[in-house]
Amino acid sequence: MAEKKTYYITTPIYYPSDNLHIGHAYCSTAADTMARFKKLMGYDTYFLTGSDEHGQKIERKAAAKGVTPKEYVDEIVANIKSLWKLMDIEYSDYIRTTDERHIKCVQQNFRKLYEQGDIYKSEYEGWYCTPCESFWTELQLKDGKCPDCGRAVEKTREESYFFKLGKYQDWLIDYINTHPDFIQPTSRVNEMMNNFLKPGLDDLCVSRTSIKWGIPVDFDKKHTVYVWIDALSNYISALGYGTENDELYKKYWPADVHLVGKEIVRFHTIIWPIMLHALGLPLPKQIFGHGWLVFDGEKMSKSLGNVVDPVMLCNRYSSDAIRYFLMREMPFGSDGQFSNTALLGRFNSDLANDLGNLVSRTTAMVEKYFGAVIPAPGEYEEIDDNLRSEALSLPSRVEKAMDQFQFSGALVEIWKLIGDCNKYIDMTQPWVLGKTEEGKGRLSTVLYTLLECIRFVAVLISPFMPRTPARIFEQTGLCDDCAKTWESLATFGLTKSGGKVSKGEALFPRYDIEKELDELEKIKQEQSKEYQASLDKPAKKAQEKPETVQPVKLSEITIDDFAKISLKVALVTNAEKVEKSDKLLKMSLKLGDETRVVVSGIAKFYTPEQILGKKVVLVYNLKPAKLRGIVSEGMLLCAANKDDTVLRLLTVDGDIEDGADIG
Ligand code: ME8
Ligand code: MG
Repeated sequence: MAEKKTYYITTPIYYPSDNLHIGHAYCSTAADTMARFKKLMGYDTYFLTGSDEHGQKIERKAAAKGVTPKEYVDEIVANIKSLWKLMDIEYSDYIRTTDERHIKCVQQNFRKLYEQGDIYKSEYEGWYCTPCESFWTELQLKDGKCPDCGRAVEKTREESYFFKLGKYQDWLIDYINTHPDFIQPTSRVNEMMNNFLKPGLDDLCVSRTSIKWGIPVDFDKKHTVYVWIDALSNYISALGYGTENDELYKKYWPADVHLVGKEIVRFHTIIWPIMLHALGLPLPKQIFGHGWLVFDGEKMSKSLGNVVDPVMLCNRYSSDAIRYFLMREMPFGSDGQFSNTALLGRFNSDLANDLGNLVSRTTAMVEKYFGAVIPAPGEYEEIDDNLRSEALSLPSRVEKAMDQFQFSGALVEIWKLIGDCNKYIDMTQPWVLGKTEEGKGRLSTVLYTLLECIRFVAVLISPFMPRTPARIFEQTGLCDDCAKTWESLATFGLTKSGGKVSKGEALFPRYDIEKELDELEKIKQEQSKEYQASLDKPAKKAQEKPETVQPVKLSEITIDDFAKISLKVALVTNAEKVEKSDKLLKMSLKLGDETRVVVSGIAKFYTPEQILGKKVVLVYNLKPAKLRGIVSEGMLLCAANKDDTVLRLLTVDGDIEDGADIG
């Protein structure tokens, strides 16, 4: 027997974020839909997803919550997995970068690259964007801020390992030019060429000594592997690459496609191919960069207050409806707007009216005119033949759209058949035919044709909406599994006459849109209130108790009491005003190898420029607190006059290295 063709598809591995939103579900839904489609077509399919659990961001969030990074991510990973379950995201494996199998693989690859001279040790000076976990050179910054997200960057200088990207630049340019399918959609090729490859690739800093939450370089343990080198390796570590159990790697690598959001195409089309090439491994066949689901013109994020909760949506409208909407609403390569109005509109028109009505009208008529028994078709007329050929040509049209990741296009094709079936009902007028014996002869052909078309539709929507086909087949009385396969769609006429239909509940009961929008608005208000409350609580407390030192009468303390307080010298490496606050400044502090973020109520007394480069005094072991949604890791000491009209930061008298203990 010939071996099945394999198909390996991946999503990015997600950062464990406590605000999973419908945007995250977008890529997973696409990958799952494609995996199911390829499975339906007979491919031996492997679908990998997972989570990207290392890095400074996680380290800080965990610290703010008072838990270990692993405890912090474990809880979120459980939530991610339950969301995937709710949405029928059926992955073959879930890789976590904290898995031992992954850690070993990353260390092994890093060592190999070092031993062959592609990785070398030097010193790094540059800018780091913590939220994006990205390094930038001075030139790449946009107005001194991260060019990707526009947030403040921190200056860093430390001993680091570097990866010789520059050495492979010409090879990569040539590879991209000779492999037009490698980066999709093609519009992203120019972006990569013009913004990154043509200006020239700098060697990439691939280790940090200041970050502890990550994979240690096994031959130089004070170094932690750069998160992107760590994360990208997941696509092969999950397959057992470099171990004795590498059957999956042998079977599935190179991947057929990595689906990624457009903002991370850069990592997947530059760092990842160069890494693989340097390791002597074949490249993935394709990187597909999809667009963003946007909400009021912005990428969805909780900090922007525009998050749409996928759990609520799935529970309210069914996961199939949400999956349908995500795949239908926007062409896969472009950005698309998410709105409740659009969602409800699609629900009512495409699902309740078009699909739902077709199934319920057809089964109702078989019940009414044939006592629920599926009639045998008579002679086909031209109008039947047209519908039949449309159904028979549908699988290849769907396949063609799917080959180009045009999920929306594939659904448009399927819905065209649904629409034509509904028109066919209007034109053949079964309610007239049903009145006479002669008409009933004709009606049996009409209803049989409709049931067969519904079979085609149900099979073809199964990758998009995994639950709906079984509900349809229950109503149309189709039990034979052989009539539910991709191959079965080569034949029109597999529905068995004599079988029984049973009209059930409406597949997608219509919503009163006005009323439903009100309900959703109420839910949103409540969720937003809860979210604001969680942000405001610490902020309010801080207002009641200003951070400036108040002259209060204090009782005596012992030297042991004082020893509980750790004070350290900290260098201000970055400062910016906190949005919508006239009091707060957010600062990045360097303490030797460590970097911290502190929010302090000094904005009325210092501009960001004035305190940049100052060595200040940090209460180092103060429990972190959230101010305006930012975790402040400690407090700066200041002196203030009685009525708080003058405030000065404490600094040290003379030069001393940052991180020095005070006491
Ligand atoms: O980038 N619309 O993780 P991540 C569409 N860990 N897609 C969205 C979206 C939205 N509103 N919001 C997020 C990372 N995404 C890295 C990946 S891979 C080796 C490492 C998509 O959790 C985003 O575009 O920030 C990205 O593809 C994916 O979710 C994971 O994003
Ligand atoms: Mg991201």
